[in-house]
Amino acid sequence: MPTLNDLAASRTTLGDADVEWLHALVSDWQLLADLSFADLILWAPVRDDGGWLALAQMRPTTGPTALQDDVVGTVAGPEDQRLLNIARDERRIWRESDPDWTNGVPVRTEGIPVTRAGRVIAVIERCTNLNSARTPSRLELTYLQGADDLSRMVAEGTFPFAGEAAMLVRSPRVGDGLLRLGRSGRVTYASPNAQSAYRRLGLAADLIGAELAVITAGLCASDEPLDESLMVVAAGRAPRAAEVDGNGSVVQLRAIPLIVGGTRTGALILVRDVTELRRRERELMTKDATIREIHHRVKNNLQTVAALLRLQARRLRAPEARAALDEAVRRVGSIAVVHETLSHAPDEVVDFDDIADRVAMMAGEVSAPEVRVIPKITGSFGLLSAAVATPLAMVLTELLQNALQHGFPPAAKDQGLLEVIAARDQERLTVTVADNGVGLPDGFDLASATSLGLQIVRTLVVSELGGRLRIAPRPGGGTEAVVDLRVGYESRTLDSPSQ
Ligand SMILES: Nc1ncnc2c1ncn2[C@@H]1O[C@H](COP(=O)(O)OP(=O)(O)OP(=O)(O)O)[C@@H](O)[C@H]1O
Ligand SMILES: [Mg+2]
Repeated sequence: MPTLNDLAASRTTLGDADVEWLHALVSDWQLLADLSFADLILWAPVRDDGGWLALAQMRPTTGPTALQDDVVGTVAGPEDQRLLNIARDERRIWRESDPDWTNGVPVRTEGIPVTRAGRVIAVIERCTNLNSARTPSRLELTYLQGADDLSRMVAEGTFPFAGEAAMLVRSPRVGDGLLRLGRSGRVTYASPNAQSAYRRLGLAADLIGAELAVITAGLCASDEPLDESLMVVAAGRAPRAAEVDGNGSVVQLRAIPLIVGGTRTGALILVRDVTELRRRERELMTKDATIREIHHRVKNNLQTVAALLRLQARRLRAPEARAALDEAVRRVGSIAVVHETLSHAPDEVVDFDDIADRVAMMAGEVSAPEVRVIPKITGSFGLLSAAVATPLAMVLTELLQNALQHGFPPAAKDQGLLEVIAARDQERLTVTVADNGVGLPDGFDLASATSLGLQIVRTLVVSELGGRLRIAPRPGGGTEAVVDLRVGYESRTLDSPSQ
């Protein structure tokens, strides 16, 4: 389905600010659909008098829909066109006197002009399925009255609220709980869900007739200073959201001040119990923090081990023994790098490009002082899970080390080329470590190599990571080692609570 942006840009004359306004409207119009028990269609005039184009539509969650089919992207028929023209030209909410029976059910249609900066930029068509209409209850009457106020605000250009920050967590819905405040901030209606939410906050008295800001202040956990913005929201004075924390429950409030024809008529307060949601978020947060702390400590411990080995290496006389300990220091170091990175990662996934940079730098540093070759990394490793990152860091260390140690005769080091090439798609990662050095010794056979370095590499790549390893002469001279792995697709998903 085409987006509002696409449609507006390709077929209407709406400017950027108009489209922005319509976005703000559409991000909040579930509220209007729910309060109206009606479907909403957003129509905008098509360029060159081409009639009206449906940019967006919304069905009510509080009642049956009047529109079985999607209408976005279609052009209004003659009946609708007449209604939309009237609403625009007369700049007022226009209701068709007879219901429309086109689809076999009686549907009442109304046009609500959408005004921005004194101009009508679009018209909302509101379609109410009259089949479900019955003698309205108190709840329904309150909803409908709220809907009327809101539609008049849309027509007057005072809704959506300019500059109201988009809500990160979804706004409470009408069905979550609704309060209607009168002009003085007293509750004139409370839906059953809103009542229960306040019960859970510890309210024993009735909400009706009470001044919401005063009652809410009394329910807040007493050890915390009173939140000014909460008071403003609970009084219905500002179009904002705030949370009440009391009696072990957390309730989210969202205020929609109603100002019709320049007069405050009160406010709607949407109420939602978010206790469970907040508890789960807190749990996840502490779990994440614990895991990160553990990685941090593991890294510290590994660095201590490396330091001990380095101390011991210094006391040794035999060069071979010193070299062996130095390598151990390096191996431990590359694991520490991964844990260090994980200790900053929001989840058990790391950006391996960072790790590769650091491993390459370490390999350069620890290798013999006459070596000047600095590994060059091209391509991207992307995100990898901790289970892959740790062994891969070690593998990379060993391969780089080999190239630096065996690849280049001392004289050639200045022109030495040492390259790491990473190629990643969703499921595969191929890492090539290539040098233009002396090449492998005669009779080299990876399968029968018994030296420690390549044994480590083989074990990690084949057994631990389930991948493939190939070491061969590089076309054009030197050696190239290729590691080929299947990796899962690691996407860093933002925590988006599903309700
Ligand atoms: N890039 C390379 N260029 C030339 N020869 C290499 C290269 N990589 C490996 N080799 C050869 O393969 C042998 C085995 O390497 P391996 O890493 O297993 O052991 P090592 O480097 O000698 O010792 P260590 O256990 O300290 O790593 C090396 O001794 C070297 O002869
Ligand atoms: Mg080696």
